[in-house]
Amino acid sequence: MALSLTISLMAQNAPQLTKSNIKQVISAMTLEEKANLVVGTGMNFQMPAPTSGDRPDSTRRQNPPGGQDRPGGPVVGSTEVLVNGAAGTTFGIPRLGITRAVLSDGPAGLRISPTRPDDDNTYYCTAFPVGTLLASTWNTELVNQVGQSMGSEMLAYGVDVILGPGMNIQRNPLCGRNFEYYSEDPYVSGKMAAAMVNGVQSKGVGTSIKHFVANNAETNRNSLNVIASERALREIYLEGPRIAVEEAQPWTVMSSYNKINGTYTSERHDLLTSILRDDWGFKGYVMTDWFGGSDPVAQMEAGNDILMPGNPSQTEAIINAVKAGELDEKVLDQNVGRILNIIVKGPRFNNVQFTNNPDLKAHALVTRQSATEGMVLLKNDSTALPLPAEAKKLAVFGNTSYDIIVGGTGSGDVNEAYSVSLVEGLQNAGYSINENLQTAYDAYVAAVKEGRPRRRGFMFGGEAPVPELFVNESLASSMAEVSDAALITIGRNSGEGRDRSSGEGDFQLTASEKELINSVSAAFHAKGKRTIVILNVGGVVETASWKSMPDAILLAWQGGQETGNSIADIISGKANPSGKLAVTFPQKYADVPSSATFPGEELPSETPENGRGRGFMRGAPAEDVYTDGIYVGYRYYETFGVKPSYEFGYGLSYTTFEYSNLELSATRFRNIMTVNVDIKNTGNVAGKEVVELYLSAPAKKLDKPSEELKGFAKTRLLQPGETQTLTFELDKRSLASFDPSVSAWIADAGSYSVKIGASSKDIRQTGNFELARDLTVKKESRSLIPDRTINEIKP
Ligand code: BGC
Repeated sequence: MALSLTISLMAQNAPQLTKSNIKQVISAMTLEEKANLVVGTGMNFQMPAPTSGDRPDSTRRQNPPGGQDRPGGPVVGSTEVLVNGAAGTTFGIPRLGITRAVLSDGPAGLRISPTRPDDDNTYYCTAFPVGTLLASTWNTELVNQVGQSMGSEMLAYGVDVILGPGMNIQRNPLCGRNFEYYSEDPYVSGKMAAAMVNGVQSKGVGTSIKHFVANNAETNRNSLNVIASERALREIYLEGPRIAVEEAQPWTVMSSYNKINGTYTSERHDLLTSILRDDWGFKGYVMTDWFGGSDPVAQMEAGNDILMPGNPSQTEAIINAVKAGELDEKVLDQNVGRILNIIVKGPRFNNVQFTNNPDLKAHALVTRQSATEGMVLLKNDSTALPLPAEAKKLAVFGNTSYDIIVGGTGSGDVNEAYSVSLVEGLQNAGYSINENLQTAYDAYVAAVKEGRPRRRGFMFGGEAPVPELFVNESLASSMAEVSDAALITIGRNSGEGRDRSSGEGDFQLTASEKELINSVSAAFHAKGKRTIVILNVGGVVETASWKSMPDAILLAWQGGQETGNSIADIISGKANPSGKLAVTFPQKYADVPSSATFPGEELPSETPENGRGRGFMRGAPAEDVYTDGIYVGYRYYETFGVKPSYEFGYGLSYTTFEYSNLELSATRFRNIMTVNVDIKNTGNVAGKEVVELYLSAPAKKLDKPSEELKGFAKTRLLQPGETQTLTFELDKRSLASFDPSVSAWIADAGSYSVKIGASSKDIRQTGNFELARDLTVKKESRSLIPDRTINEIKP
């Protein structure tokens, strides 16, 4: 009787959460309520029904049935609470007016279940191009627009935070999740992520930049210890997130699975508080990656405000630690405060009515156009492309021409309503596809796929590639006889939980793929006809050994649900390609500077500290020593004189551009240097040009890359003969490198050279300026210090 009276009095007096009473609400919360709020509501593993509280999807144990060895694996983040198929939800406390928030994957579009039990409606989302393709547009306005479209789908379906963009550095071409990420370069990554975050958040919903930080491999991803220098971390791995935080204030950040220099990122106070909040001014909350890290109390103290997807044992550990005096309740209050600050911004808290009816038609146009802008024309001998108007009969080879790959696997997958294959796209554009070939491929792909078990050990599903159909010389030459041109698609897919292989069938083409390119090219050339290779891939593949055979190569990436239409727009000349590489295509895998250590070395010891045997998703203890330091991607190839197959920043157009009139605002640097350059379309068709600004800095105390990207811009669609002046600004920070001995960004006095290029190799205009005195641009916290000397490569 007395107890129920107390409870009802508590309820009566309890403040109801508003934007301005967060402190008051926190002081009205019980310890249990606080500990519940900092732990997500779990995941749906068909566990027994919850027993109490607002934890309807509760994970009652840490290991889902089946674990790692179950074919197809456990589902990635998935809940049935509020929005089916969302990755997780935060805890609601109705007594205090604290609503739940829905968190949902992922970078290429919203990932929710397209259908719901006992419901005839469908809940499809748009599959947008993968991150790698979006970065290759070099068009931040377009990426912002993609973000806006995603944001409005979130709003329509009642999702508060999307778990993206993914922005890890593409340090090595074999990382299975590179397709979700933008670039090997932190400046491109940061600018793209900022554009995406600003686009999504303009709709009143939130983002989660991930995975913070140095999650550059999938092998042993939950136990990998990344050993890296402070300089490499600051200049390469942290720089992109810094730009995104400073230019876009994402509502949330997702810490990564890996350790850095011995400690899980989610347990590092220096990373999540000193750097993220104190150095950069981040204002939102940090969540763990799903089941990431190991010590809930250390995570709270580090500033990892919420543990996802959440497990009651974590809540318990937090309550016990406060009661035992091991965790200061003030720390918990801070974590709670940061979560509430974001909850009050979300659509659920603000009673937005969810229409469940996003404008999928409009977003299909956005995805079609953005995919077209990010496809990269790698080769185009004798203007093989666009196809001339009279070339209408096409022989289309390659499995993925018929069974196109629109995005990667795992949490970054999207449930789209349809996808347009290459042949469908070509047919939509008025081409006729050789029917015999089409019938043969359709039957072959279907037969191989039928009843085939999913790839064992591929934790998040995904299927093994279908080996290429053997095309003998007589078939190739009979096709050449009756067709105007040949198209050959080479497809690759990869995804979460697994890295790619450097061997045939993945990084390298198989013998049968090369033979296909060879025999088809030879047969078509013998008849004076052209062969075009289309790369339908999420990441880098070897090109040096076969690129001489076809007339043209179009890197189409994985372009989302409209991929086939987007490719057809380029093939036909309806669109002029304007994508450029945001990642280097090396000649061979061994040329990659991290190839010697990637994806890390497994360690023999099995102690609880290093993570083995911890259950769900724990790999073997392993470490990767980043001996490549700051020399990642073109910083390495250019500085060490290693010739790539296609360099960073490279891409062709159907027109040509002339660069002229480079103008620097001064010969001496003060606070800002303005750089102008004129770009003229000197060809016959309209086109857009990506223009890149590289800076070479003097090397005094620290070694420096021979050049670094410090600006880029894309022209508007320039008509033949039309000129546009592009303007870039270099601030102090663009001149500086991170000097760990003083924990500061320092710009060295001396001569700087500004290089304006059509790629990192194709420099068209150069100018110089002087910096009179050494400048300390910004002091930072002393953080992430490695416990050993790292033997980094030096030029
Ligand atoms: C992935 C995250 C994802 C989360 C929720 C994890 O396995 O690493 O990127 O957001 O699952 O699905």
